[in-house]
Amino acid sequence: MTRGRRPKAVGRSLRVWDASADAYDRFEMKWHYYSRVGEKLVGALPLRPDSTVLELACGTGACTTLLVERVLRGRITAVDQSSEMLEAARRNSTHVGRRLTFREGGVGQVLRALAKRQRMFDFVVCNSAFWQFPEVESLPREIHGVMKRGGFLGFNLPFWFHSRREHLQYRRTVDGVLMRNGIEPREFWSKRLPVDYPKLLTDSGFVVVKDARYHVTMRKQESLEWRRIPAFRRRWGTFQGLPRSVASDVRKELEARRRRRPEDRALVSNWRLILAEAR
Ligand SMILES: C[S@@+](CC[C@H](N)C(=O)[O-])C[C@H]1O[C@@H](n2cnc3c(N)ncnc32)[C@H](O)[C@@H]1O
Repeated sequence: MTRGRRPKAVGRSLRVWDASADAYDRFEMKWHYYSRVGEKLVGALPLRPDSTVLELACGTGACTTLLVERVLRGRITAVDQSSEMLEAARRNSTHVGRRLTFREGGVGQVLRALAKRQRMFDFVVCNSAFWQFPEVESLPREIHGVMKRGGFLGFNLPFWFHSRREHLQYRRTVDGVLMRNGIEPREFWSKRLPVDYPKLLTDSGFVVVKDARYHVTMRKQESLEWRRIPAFRRRWGTFQGLPRSVASDVRKELEARRRRRPEDRALVSNWRLILAEAR
């Protein structure tokens, strides 16, 4: 796809990811964090050497590499909206050609284009991006439309808290800022209800066969470098909809809370792994 024809819906996220590509790639080369996150996901898939796989939001190719190692004779199509992330993915992949092709575009748009060829994939995989897609509610049905019956959709979702106690502290910090600014916390959170993925998948023709938790440890230094990647420098998505000054106050308070954590504590990133079979 040419630069001029990129869909508007992914505009902001696209700019952030284009600007993050170099830093993300350097971070991943050094720490292999997304590769470690993806290993559990790819390991849970009953891939065969001749499988056909669609990877959504391949980024710089950390998970793509894991897929290429398992799918020795099949075909992998890896999609991302960001030309810069894809450029790094191409550099990092040794099997571009018959076995692996990259496609630039928003996932919704690519799925609609692929649907014309119908039911071609045994697997659809997404490592560390599914919750970012603007069309997350309609996406499972579109994914189902490009999958063979009996094929598997696998993706993972992060939940960033060590414990329920830590989550409550986070909520308390955010609520404090909201109340100081005359915003009713309950109303704010009610608009941010998490997506019920199992229900969404069931309603879209899938049967959920696995819904499990796992964690990946992040060293202190690793987490500091992760935060320097522009896309993660601030949580630009989480407080959308709040007045700018309030969102900025919330971020400042959360940042101060983070600094108060003991320096030498390794972070644990928690993940939920969902695997669903297309019926
Ligand atoms: C955390 S990164 C990539 C993770 C990657 N799968 C890996 O294993 O390293 C998130 C990626 O999602 C992509 N992305 C976000 N929204 C997208 C969309 N609507 N369509 C296509 N790609 C998208 C971004 O461009 C970015 O490359």
